[in-house]
Amino acid sequence: MPDFVPVGIVGVGTCLPERVVSNKELETMVETTDEWIVDRTGIRERRIAKNEEATSDLAVEAARRALESAGVEPHEVDLIIVATATPDHVFPATASLVQDRLGCPKAGAFDLSAACTGFMYALVSGAAFISSGTFKTVLVIGAETMSKLLNWKDRSTCILFGDGAGAVVLREVPRGYGLLASYLGSDGSGGPLLQVPAGGSRMPNCHQTLDASLQCLHMNGREVYRFAVRVMGEAALEVVKRAGLERKDIDLFIPHQANIRIIEAAAKRLGLPMDKVLVNVDRYGNTSSASVPIALDEAIRSGRLISGNNVVMVGFGAGLSWGAVTFKWQ
Ligand code: UT7
Repeated sequence: MPDFVPVGIVGVGTCLPERVVSNKELETMVETTDEWIVDRTGIRERRIAKNEEATSDLAVEAARRALESAGVEPHEVDLIIVATATPDHVFPATASLVQDRLGCPKAGAFDLSAACTGFMYALVSGAAFISSGTFKTVLVIGAETMSKLLNWKDRSTCILFGDGAGAVVLREVPRGYGLLASYLGSDGSGGPLLQVPAGGSRMPNCHQTLDASLQCLHMNGREVYRFAVRVMGEAALEVVKRAGLERKDIDLFIPHQANIRIIEAAAKRLGLPMDKVLVNVDRYGNTSSASVPIALDEAIRSGRLISGNNVVMVGFGAGLSWGAVTFKWQ
């Protein structure tokens, strides 16, 4: 067996747009109420980017903060992975734009597409480059401007999402710390349940697609809800098992922030009290691939993570796809 390098998160940073959009403000845009949104989702407000603000703008700022918190200089970064469903362009990759603006001359850069699960896929991919000895320092970013993909006339989707970015720096850590186990999954048969139908090679955008808002996010909320409740608990249990731990060993659960009811159902399934679960969906809504790193940053800043804690992070989303990791915080 080769001697794998133990890899962990050594720095975290986030960037959230300044503009706060409350449920009350949404009441003026679509037929909805603050009460319905809070009751069905737990969301009270979300951050929305300015028209001229793109995903890379948020990604660069989150990455700067992550590098600073890790004490790592941009020129030390070997690889940048940006998980996003809302890249600045079809190409070049948003990661390349970030690489240039951060000033990381020797870094390779690529985008990773796994929708809301993107950060989990990027984290596991980035870690593999270090554990195999290929690279020493990898920057993993989840960044989204979901507001640009939404149909602001569709009340069943536009109330759910928000914009933001979260970044982590990965490096070697002392043995016994860092990533303990991972689990990535996909069921592409569920693709139509959550998709942006037009704008790709299957249905390039034209006047007709724009008239039908097919360039926007479309979702079968009820079916995605069912999938999410099932997969969130299952994926978490699987990575706990793969790490050789038991449910009682989980100190903090950081789930993808899509809906408080999904989070509570997963916590129940794991037998976890809510004080072991990080929740910020009330303030940011669903920021897709940015949600888990934003929640992780909050956990660190609020002192909820101490050295030796076992953390489980789980993401799920379009694909359908899901991913989970267990790590021991240093
Ligand atoms: O990152 C992964 C992404 N997605 C998710 O995790 C989403 C998973 N799904 C959900 O979170 C929930 O399904 C929603 C929050 C999207 C919807 O909640 P629900 O309890 O499943 O509601 P529903 O879709 O069954 O709709 C119930 C009613 C409908 O009215 P009728 O047909 O019963 O008269 C909807 O038209 O609520 C109506 N409705 C709304 N009413 C007020 C849907 N959206 C709204 C709204 N305000 N914003």
